[in-house]
Amino acid sequence: MGNDAYSILIKDICTAYHGLPVLESFSLQVPEGELLGVFGPNGTGKSTLIKVCLGLVPVASGEVRISGYRMSREGISFIRKLTAYVPQSFDVDRRMPVTAGEVVMMGRFGRMGLFNRIGPGDQAAADDALNMLGVKHLAGRTFGRLSGGEKQRVIVARALAQEPKILLMDEPTNSLDWESKKRICSLIREVHVERKLTTLIVSHDIDLLADTCDRIMLMERGHIIGARDPSEFRHCCRGQRHS
Ligand SMILES: Nc1ncnc2c1ncn2[C@@H]1O[C@H](COP(=O)(O)OP(=O)(O)OP(=O)(O)O)[C@@H](O)[C@H]1O
Ligand SMILES: [Mg+2]
Repeated sequence: MGNDAYSILIKDICTAYHGLPVLESFSLQVPEGELLGVFGPNGTGKSTLIKVCLGLVPVASGEVRISGYRMSREGISFIRKLTAYVPQSFDVDRRMPVTAGEVVMMGRFGRMGLFNRIGPGDQAAADDALNMLGVKHLAGRTFGRLSGGEKQRVIVARALAQEPKILLMDEPTNSLDWESKKRICSLIREVHVERKLTTLIVSHDIDLLADTCDRIMLMERGHIIGARDPSEFRHCCRGQRHS
């Protein structure tokens, strides 16, 4: 079953790695159209939360629904088409012979059928995303040999090329300089509004979250301990910055 008022609905789930619990009795509701930030110390389970939304880590109990689709063998193929993911890190072999343009085109693969060719629509979406992120000039370069910040922008472009309904970003400004950070913050907001997305951003970057999000959830030791609106969040983080 698809469509739901909540793009992300997590009810009372538990996840663990090798028997060690990370998220326990964890619930979260993200209404359709919200741009939600998640903030909290290292090791608290923020990346795990994103992976739960993508079906990348098993959930021992409770329920996960993405746009109304239950996380299940049947639901996962719909969920994968609806969601795009910017991972926290993406190590690739520097010699891997794949260009930045090809990495962005990978964002289109979920929309192509088996053996389908890259069509003009796919090329246009990839070019659009490369242009938006200001990395069109890098399209022919070997991805593994780009700088950290260049790779990061290419990975964000790949997510946008996918034309998702739900965008899940884990530390999207990690290795960016100040100018690129500002640019990406306003771009995320712009794309979010223009394409009517639901967006979840995990970050330690207080300015990114305060400037970009509608609401920020605070996480600690696998639990949500509160929610703040952006101005409140900026105020309460002053003097106690995580890094
Ligand atoms: N694949 C894994 N195998 C074992 N333990 C893991 C795995 N992934 C994460 N963990 C552990 O789960 C806990 C939560 O990790 P997670 O990556 O979700 O934290 P995080 O909040 O994203 O932290 P950070 O801010 O450092 O990115 C940590 O204690 C981590 O060591
Ligand atoms: Mg993380």
